[in-house]
Amino acid sequence: MRKTFLLAIIAVIAAVTQANNCPALYKQSNLSPIFNETIAHAIHSMTVQGLRLFNPRATVNNKIPTVNQNLHNGAKVVPFAPEDPVGNDFFDFTMNMIDRVLTNVGTHDDGLGHHWSPAERIVHVFHMWDLWLHIQPYYQRIVSSSPVSDALCECLLDTKANGIYNNVGWVANHYESGTPISLKNIVEIPPLVDGNSWKIWKKDLLQYYNEESLNDAGMYLYCALKDF
Ligand SMILES: *[C@@H]1O[C@H](CO)[C@@H](O)[C@H](O)[C@H]1NC(C)=O
Repeated sequence: MRKTFLLAIIAVIAAVTQANNCPALYKQSNLSPIFNETIAHAIHSMTVQGLRLFNPRATVNNKIPTVNQNLHNGAKVVPFAPEDPVGNDFFDFTMNMIDRVLTNVGTHDDGLGHHWSPAERIVHVFHMWDLWLHIQPYYQRIVSSSPVSDALCECLLDTKANGIYNNVGWVANHYESGTPISLKNIVEIPPLVDGNSWKIWKKDLLQYYNEESLNDAGMYLYCALKDF
């Protein structure tokens, strides 16, 4: 009885020490100082189908926080990336994805709230796939050459402590009032109607395409998917 109690105390102390260690582990790693922002952006609309770009064995039993696809009902953030299969009425993935997006317009069930025009929804979904494909080689490099330590993975996956979860929540909250694209230097994103407004969209869409951000996301996804 006494021994069990002692072990329990030791376990608690170990957990607390581990959590306190995270800032030091983050510093020693090659994560960027704003990893909670870059990672939250990369995963906020992650799906099981997206995860399979990295690990074909990934399932809905993942613990990756995402914006609730159904924003008008219940929690703004769900603690997993959901299934989002595209159909096969058309021949290629691109057209099947466009079919998926346009079929959902008006249902408010695609995790974006009701401020997005059909064209903006299509841009968003392909922007995320484009980013995920860009993260792929960073993820592969981590898998094959420099595995992240279990201790660092534990810190990264503690998304409620490190700000990733809250930043996904930030995105969800801002979908209520507009079409936020990046989490920083938030400028009012104009409706996407022509080449001039696209210039502003494009600049913001490309914000997390730098090496540091891609590496942050690769490290997080490595940790989140290593046990599948
Ligand atoms: C994200 O990390 C930065 C830098 O460590 C910190 O200042 C910020 O509070 C974190 N964000 C959240 C939402 O916790």
